[in-house]
Amino acid sequence: MPVTQPLETPIAYDRIRAVEWLDGRIRLIDQRLLPGKFEHLMLQTLPEAVHAIRDMAVRGAPAIGITAAYAVVLAAHTRYAENPTNWQAALEPDLRMLAEARPTAVNLRWAVERMRACITTLSGDPLPVLLAEAQRIHAEDIAANHRMGELGAALIEPGSGVLTHCNTGALATGGYGTALGVVRAAYAAQRLNAVYADETRPWLQGARLTAWELVQEGIPATVIADSAGARLMHEQRVQWVIVGADRIAANGDVANKIGTYNAAIVARHHGVKFMVVAPISTVDMATPDGAHIPIEQRAESEVLNFAGQQTAPEGARAWNPAFDVTPAELIDAIVTERGVVLNPSREKMAALMRT
Ligand code: MRU
Repeated sequence: MPVTQPLETPIAYDRIRAVEWLDGRIRLIDQRLLPGKFEHLMLQTLPEAVHAIRDMAVRGAPAIGITAAYAVVLAAHTRYAENPTNWQAALEPDLRMLAEARPTAVNLRWAVERMRACITTLSGDPLPVLLAEAQRIHAEDIAANHRMGELGAALIEPGSGVLTHCNTGALATGGYGTALGVVRAAYAAQRLNAVYADETRPWLQGARLTAWELVQEGIPATVIADSAGARLMHEQRVQWVIVGADRIAANGDVANKIGTYNAAIVARHHGVKFMVVAPISTVDMATPDGAHIPIEQRAESEVLNFAGQQTAPEGARAWNPAFDVTPAELIDAIVTERGVVLNPSREKMAALMRT
C-alpha cells in the first residue's frame, strides 16, 4: 500500500499524513477503506467535512479537530464571497454544526473555538489569516506528538512489550500520533521487543489502521482479539498498555475508545502499567470528571454486522457506546507535551495546566 507523504521532518517513523490542505481543499486519507484500499477524499465545503467526520472517513480526536479547523477556512471563504459585510453572522450555524459533528472528542470543539477567536478579530478577506491559524493548529499538534513520543518512550524499560488500543497514530492526529507516537519513539530507541494492537471492535481501528501504520513503518505488529488482553497480560508479554484520549476531565478521568476501561482494569490486576498519551487540547478543565463527559452512541448496525455481513439474527438489538471512561486511579501516567503526570489527580491536572 503506497504512502504518498514525503518525509517532512528528520523524525524516524513519521511518513503518514491523514489530513492535508492542498490546492484550497482538504485532502483526507479515507480511513473507512484501509487497509484494503488507499484513497484520498477531497473536501470543498464545511458540510462535506461534517459528513466525513460523522461517517469516520477521518477519525481520532486531534485529526477531527484539525479537519474542523480547515473546514472553518472553507466555510469562511464561502460566507465572505456571499456577503463580505456580514459573513461572520452567516458562519455561526456552520460553526455550531461542525462542533456538534461528534460529541466526545473535545479537540473538535477546542479547534472550532480557536478558529472562532481568530474570526472575531478579522476584517477583510478572512482566508489568509484563518488558513494560517488552521496550519498552526496542525503544526502544533505534530510538534506535541513528537515531544510526547520522547516523554512517553522514556518511561518504558528497554526490552518491554506494549499493548495499544484503537488507532492513535498519524491517522488519528496531525501526524506521528499520541500513544502510537510513543510506540514509534520507543521502537526507534530500541526499547520495544513487541507491539500488540487490540483489533478494537466494532470499527477495527486497531486491526485495520494501527496495524497498517506499523506495517508501513516496518515496525513488527501483532493484532489480538480485544478479549485476548487478559491472557496476554497473564503471560507477561506486555509491561505497558498505551492509549490515547478523546477527553481528559479535570480530575484525570479519561474518555477513550470503548474497551479502554476493560484494558485498564485488566492491566491493574496484572501489575501492568497504564499510560494515556494526549495533547493539552484534549484536556478539558471545564468537565469536572468522567461522569460529565458525553459518550457518543453509534448505530446498532455497527455491532450487528461485520464487514457488510449481518452477524446477529434479525430482531436482535445492539448497544453501541463508542467510548468509555477510565477512572484516574487506574492510570499510572498521563503524558502531554507539557510534561508527564504520574498517578493523576485533580490537583496534579490543575498544576499541569498552570505550567
Ligand atoms: O471513534 P474514533 O476512531 O474517532 O476513536 C478514536 C479514539 O478513541 C482514539 O483513541 C482517540 O481519539 C485518541 S487519537 C490520538
